[in-house]
Amino acid sequence: MILRDKNKNLLIEETQISELAKQFGTPIYAYSEKQIRKNIQSLKTSLSKHFEKFQILYAIKANSNPHILRIFQEEGLGADCSCEGEIFIAEKLGFSMKDSIYTANYQLEEDLARASQKGIILNLDDYNQLDELCKISKPEIISFRINPGIGRGGFEGIVTGGTDAKFGFPYEETEKAYRKALDLGIKRFGIHMMTGSNNLEPFYFAEITQKIMTIAGESLSKLGIQLEFVDIGGGFGIPYTENESEIDLDLTFKLTSDAFYEGVKKYSLGNPKLIVEPGRFLVGNAGVLISQVTHVKQTYKRFAGLDAGMSTLLRPSLYEAYHKILIDRKSEQNEKYFLTGQICENSDIHPQEREMPNLEQGDLAVITDVGAYGFVMSSHYNHRPKPAEILVSGKNVKLIRRAETLEDIWQKIEA
Ligand code: LLP
Repeated sequence: MILRDKNKNLLIEETQISELAKQFGTPIYAYSEKQIRKNIQSLKTSLSKHFEKFQILYAIKANSNPHILRIFQEEGLGADCSCEGEIFIAEKLGFSMKDSIYTANYQLEEDLARASQKGIILNLDDYNQLDELCKISKPEIISFRINPGIGRGGFEGIVTGGTDAKFGFPYEETEKAYRKALDLGIKRFGIHMMTGSNNLEPFYFAEITQKIMTIAGESLSKLGIQLEFVDIGGGFGIPYTENESEIDLDLTFKLTSDAFYEGVKKYSLGNPKLIVEPGRFLVGNAGVLISQVTHVKQTYKRFAGLDAGMSTLLRPSLYEAYHKILIDRKSEQNEKYFLTGQICENSDIHPQEREMPNLEQGDLAVITDVGAYGFVMSSHYNHRPKPAEILVSGKNVKLIRRAETLEDIWQKIEA
């Protein structure tokens, strides 16, 4: 997505990064519209090869800028919402509620009922909330988030299935959950799991799909339930390091569809559609964070400070996540650095030492693959305003969120 022209200047689409920094300042998140549309297209192409009926819901949590969401809405995707705020924004942008799913956890029943009344499909994290929920408002269709007992993710912190996960309920209780729903008079059903994020291994998706089909089959065929959908969650990874390769989507969905249709047939589960709810895959590689070197210092180690630290991009500090960093300068001499931010925490650092061109104050450092879980996880820590976001389409650049000022924060506090 990021290119170097013949003079070795960095470009996003057809726009020079140095021009963006000059015009908008740093730090700034920049997204490529072309890359987002390409990601959507490749997902649609692979899914349509292997599934008769499927639906893609965009996981809003990955990047909730309305201008980005509008691209997904235009491309006909539904919304995967995790809280009232995400439903609010999805509704405002005209996402169809009946084609969207609400997967919250530890939510009040009143909140679930309010959401269900808007027509969004509820995917319950705990079937024990069903009695209370039905007293307030009985949903027409229900899905449950099953913990299939296994999970996998790029880091421990993003594994969302298995015995340590706080999400969903044990698969052994699946029959009990759906029986309760039937007893309460609910007649339409789906089933869901989300076992972890940033997985690149096609066989893993086949394994979990086989697992959920077996769980559904063994529990629901006894109850005579036909499923309208099987939602296998998101979790499709992107390569962050130089050693990783892109996920083979075609193989992923070929293997997944084998497990899916075998289960549907074996257990007579009706004619369900497959739902996927990716976030990272759709936006992750479409975003960069343009930052500036603020100071270089040699102590026991050599540090280079950036104006984008953990309050702007949390992933390196939170998960020790690796992001490639490109320098927009043509120095031939290399040096080793630890890149850090300006926050008063020693964990405000890219933990892996990097070899890069000799750095000087004012150099632009472009942190790649930050389109997902980048801006959305930024904070005001150390009283720092949040950065701006821009959307690049060819030579067109649109400011899609202006940078906050200290005055903006001050006004909200009403001191
Ligand atoms: N559906 C549900 C119910 C989820 O909990 C998630 C992500 C997704 C879909 C989208 O997953 P994806 O396709 O993006 O893997 N902050 C972490 C990622 C946390 C993911 C949480 N759930 C990170 O920066 O890597």
